[in-house]
Amino acid sequence: MRSLVLNLLVCILLVKVTTSEKITFENVTVQWSLNDELVESVATSDNLKKIIPDKTQVSVEIFGHVPILYEKSVFDAPNLKTLDLSSVGLEEIEPEAFGNLPLLEDLLLASNGLTQIKTATFTNLNVSQVVLSSNSITLLEPGAFTNFKAEYVSLDSNKLTEFSSGVFENVTLGTLSLNHNFLYTIAPGALSAIGLTRLKLFGNNFEEIDPEIFDMQELVSLDLYSNSIKLLRSGDLRDLPELKELWLSENQLEEIPEGVFNNTKLTDLYLANNQIAKIAGKAFEDMPELIVLRLDFNKVTDWDNNWLSEAKSISEISISYNLITEIPDEVLKNNSNVTKIDVQGNKIRKISTKAFYKLEHIDHLNLAYNEIGNWNPDLLGNVSIVSLDLSGNRLKCIKGDLETIFRNVQIVYLDNNPWEEECAKKIVELQ
Ligand SMILES: *[C@@H]1O[C@H](CO)[C@@H](O)[C@H](O)[C@H]1NC(C)=O
Ligand SMILES: *[C@@H]1O[C@H](CO)[C@@H](O)[C@H](O)[C@H]1NC(C)=O
Ligand SMILES: *[C@@H]1O[C@H](CO)[C@@H](O)[C@H](O)[C@H]1NC(C)=O
Ligand SMILES: *[C@@H]1O[C@H](CO)[C@@H](O)[C@H](O)[C@H]1NC(C)=O
Ligand SMILES: *[C@@H]1O[C@H](CO)[C@@H](O)[C@H](O)[C@H]1NC(C)=O
Ligand SMILES: *[C@@H]1O[C@H](CO)[C@@H](O)[C@H](O)[C@H]1NC(C)=O
Ligand SMILES: *[C@@H]1O[C@H](CO)[C@@H](O)[C@H](O)[C@H]1NC(C)=O
Repeated sequence: MRSLVLNLLVCILLVKVTTSEKITFENVTVQWSLNDELVESVATSDNLKKIIPDKTQVSVEIFGHVPILYEKSVFDAPNLKTLDLSSVGLEEIEPEAFGNLPLLEDLLLASNGLTQIKTATFTNLNVSQVVLSSNSITLLEPGAFTNFKAEYVSLDSNKLTEFSSGVFENVTLGTLSLNHNFLYTIAPGALSAIGLTRLKLFGNNFEEIDPEIFDMQELVSLDLYSNSIKLLRSGDLRDLPELKELWLSENQLEEIPEGVFNNTKLTDLYLANNQIAKIAGKAFEDMPELIVLRLDFNKVTDWDNNWLSEAKSISEISISYNLITEIPDEVLKNNSNVTKIDVQGNKIRKISTKAFYKLEHIDHLNLAYNEIGNWNPDLLGNVSIVSLDLSGNRLKCIKGDLETIFRNVQIVYLDNNPWEEECAKKIVELQ
C-alpha cells in the first residue's frame, strides 16, 4: 500500500515534470512584419501556432533560447511561410516536430548546436529550402527526410563523415549542399533517385570520383573543389550523363588521362590548383560542348596542340602559372569561338608563327609574366584582339612599326619589360 502511494506520487511528479518540460517556446521574442512594420512580442507556448498572428501569410523570426523542438511544436500553422530559428541554441529536434505546414517555404535552422537529425524529422514537407548549416551534425538517421520535397537543402559546415543510403526516403531535391564537412564517401545509391541537379561537396575529403556513388542521372553541376582527389580514371563520369559543370580545383591531381571527360556534356571544367604535370593527348577529346577550361596553377610543361582540336565550342582557356615554355603551331586550329586565352606566369620563350593562325577574334590574350624576348611582327596576322597583355616579359625592342603590328589590337600592355631606350620612345608614342 505504502509503495503504491509512493509509486503514484512518483508518477504524478513525473507527469508534471514532463508536461512542463514540453514547452518549446519559453519567453522567446517572436518577430514578424505587419504592413511593413516589425512587430515583436514575448511569448511562451508549446506550439508556435499559438504565438504567431492569424494572417494569411506570415514570416516569423524567433530570438531567445529554444534548446529543444518537441514533437508537434511547429504544427498546424497553415499560414506559416518562413520560420527562422537560426542561432537560438537549438540542440535537438524531436521526430514529428514539424507537420501540417502547407505554406512553408523557408525553414532556417542555421548556427545552432544540433548534433543529429533523427528519423522522421523532416516528414511530409514540401518547401523551398531547409537550411541546417553551421551546426555540429555528425549523424543523419535513416528516414531523416521522408516524403519530402525541396529545392534546396544545406548541411554546410557540419561534421558529417558518412552519408548512409536511407537518409532520403521518397525525396525530391534540387540542390544539396554539403560543403565543409568531413565526407570521403557517400553510400552508393544514397543520392541517386532523388532528382538532384546540383551537388556541392566543396571542402570535404573525397579521394576519388567513384561512379558507384556519383550515379545521378539528372545532375548538372558537381562541386568537388578543395577535396583530396588524387586520381581520375576512364569512366569515372559515366553515370553523370547530364553533367555540365565540374569543379575539381584545389585537389591533388597529377595527371589527366584520356577517357574521363569524353562524351560528356561538360561546358565548364575547372582543374586549377592541382599538381597536374601530364595531360593525355586525347584528354579533352569528344567534349563538343566545352566552353570554359581552367588549368591555372598546375605543373604543365607542354601545350599539346591536339588537346582542344575537337572542342569546337571552347571560348575561354586559362593555363596561367604553369611551366609551359612554348606555344606551338595552331594551338587553337579548330576553335574559332575562343575569346579568352590566359597563359600568364609561365615560362614561354617561343611562340610559333602560326600559333594563333586561323583565329579571327580574341577578346583577351594574356601573355604577361613569361620569358618572351622576341616578338614576331607577323604573329597576330589579322586576328582582331581587344586586349593583349605582354607586360613582365623580356622584350628589349619590337622591330617595325608598332602601329602596323598592333593594328588590330585595341589595348596593348607593354610595361615591365627591359625596353631599350630607342624602343621605349616608340612605345610611349604608341600608348
Ligand atoms: C520565463 O518568464 C517567467 C516570468 O517572468 C519566469 O518565471 C521564468 O523563469 C522564465 N523562464 C525562463 C526559461 O527564462
Ligand atoms: C509542392 O508545392 C508546390 C508549390 O508550392 C506545388 O506546385 C506542388 O504541387 C507541391 N507538390 C506536392 C507533391 O505537394
Ligand atoms: C512520396 O512523397 C510525396 C510527397 O513528397 C507524397 O505525396 C507521396 O504520397 C509519397 N509516396 C509514398 C509512396 O510514400
Ligand atoms: C571514353 O574513352 C575511353 C577510352 O578512350 C572509352 O573506353 C570510353 O568508352 C569512352 N567513354 C565514352 C562515354 O564513350
Ligand atoms: C578539325 O576539325 C576537322 C573537321 O571537323 C577535323 O576533320 C579535323 O580532324 C580537326 N583537326 C584536328 C587537328 O583535329
Ligand atoms: C560560337 O559562338 C556562337 C555565338 O555564341 C554560337 O552561335 C556558335 O554555335 C558557336 N560555335 C560553336 C562551334 O560552338
Ligand atoms: C590580312 O588581311 C589582308 C587584307 O585584307 C590580306 O591581304 C592578308 O593576306 C591577310 N593576312 C593573313 C595572314 O591572312
